[in-house]
Amino acid sequence: MKDDAIERTEWVRLTLGGSTSTVTHSGVDELADGLSDALWVMDANTDAIAGAPEGVPKVVLPVGEAAKSWPAVDRILRAAVEREIDRHGRFVGFGGGVVCDVAAFAASVYLRGVAVTLIPTSLLAMVDAAIGGKTGVNFAGFKNMVGTFHAADEVRICEETTHSLSEREFRSGLAEAIKAALLDDAELLEIFESHAEAILARKNPVLSEVIRRSILVKARVVESDYREGGRRAILNLGHTFAHALESVAGFGEWTHGEAVAWGIARAARLGEATGHTPAQHAERIISLLTRYGYRIEPGVADPHALLEAMRHDKKRAGGAIRFVIPCGVGETVVEPVDEVTVLQGLVHPG
Ligand SMILES: NC(=O)c1ccc[n+]([C@@H]2O[C@H](COP(=O)([O-])OP(=O)(O)OC[C@H]3O[C@@H](n4cnc5c(N)ncnc54)[C@H](O)[C@@H]3O)[C@@H](O)[C@H]2O)c1
Repeated sequence: MKDDAIERTEWVRLTLGGSTSTVTHSGVDELADGLSDALWVMDANTDAIAGAPEGVPKVVLPVGEAAKSWPAVDRILRAAVEREIDRHGRFVGFGGGVVCDVAAFAASVYLRGVAVTLIPTSLLAMVDAAIGGKTGVNFAGFKNMVGTFHAADEVRICEETTHSLSEREFRSGLAEAIKAALLDDAELLEIFESHAEAILARKNPVLSEVIRRSILVKARVVESDYREGGRRAILNLGHTFAHALESVAGFGEWTHGEAVAWGIARAARLGEATGHTPAQHAERIISLLTRYGYRIEPGVADPHALLEAMRHDKKRAGGAIRFVIPCGVGETVVEPVDEVTVLQGLVHPG
């Protein structure tokens, strides 16, 4: 591992909560530069992939959502104490969204907050979890029940690390990138439409362009609303449906991204039914999601069970369930929709 000259390209610089967070693009060999004294957090998979450093102080967590837990935080904090990491020290999260969330959370509470570098290795973490400063762990059976805002001062991206991701995990991350395109990048949407084969084959330069542009979309949104007072809610496009599906189908049946893709399709149809989304735009969304191989048909789970799960969604307001509706590229509204209309959209073919 080199600790000398660090050659990375700056992609994005965000100001979040008064501090700066820089997203840089690195080659796989430079990912660990300058970070040999930091405390690394990874999981058993990412400990073994390209870019994983040797000989650094590290905590290796078990694989999967269960690692986003209090015991994992305990292990990281104890390792930091044992290593005598002081308040000028640094944690590094090297892994998917789980590792990024838990490493950043531990960094935010250790000595009232130490610096954290995130090196996301799943596509989902690159375009979403590592960007925007939300940290968290699951608690008392609830997802992300405990957390903080603590932005990484640096996020290092190397798309090469995605090469070892399973096909399913890769496509799961792509759904969030497609969401980003729909939210605020017409050119990215066209790239998705015209380069599907290359994107699915993880080819460059198109893959790094997809990642860079998706990050820019999220960066613009979170900079305008760091603590989710309003606009940040649009990042939940597809998520009200997705969370319901994940809980009704049983966690793990659908990956988060697969459920989000299904949810985006349902939100587009709901937009059509409520007069917010022109039919042409809904068709464009449906055909894109189909091209990328996602399951988007309405009847994938019991409609009444889905509705019940949505009633419990934390984004509920004023008695009606609120949805992020894609009206056009870069045009999104967050609207309450009555339950009868929602139910119809879960029953009828579309
Ligand atoms: N903080 C945020 O703003 C935010 C946003 C979105 C999602 N999240 C969180 O992110 C988590 C989901 O992230 P995820 O989908 O990356 O899950 P994950 O971290 O569990 O990673 C998915 C799987 O891929 C493996 N993996 C990761 N990188 C790999 C690589 N390069 N090669 C081979 N295997 C690799 C992991 O070990 C794991 O088995 C959820 O907990 C979610 O709440 C957070």
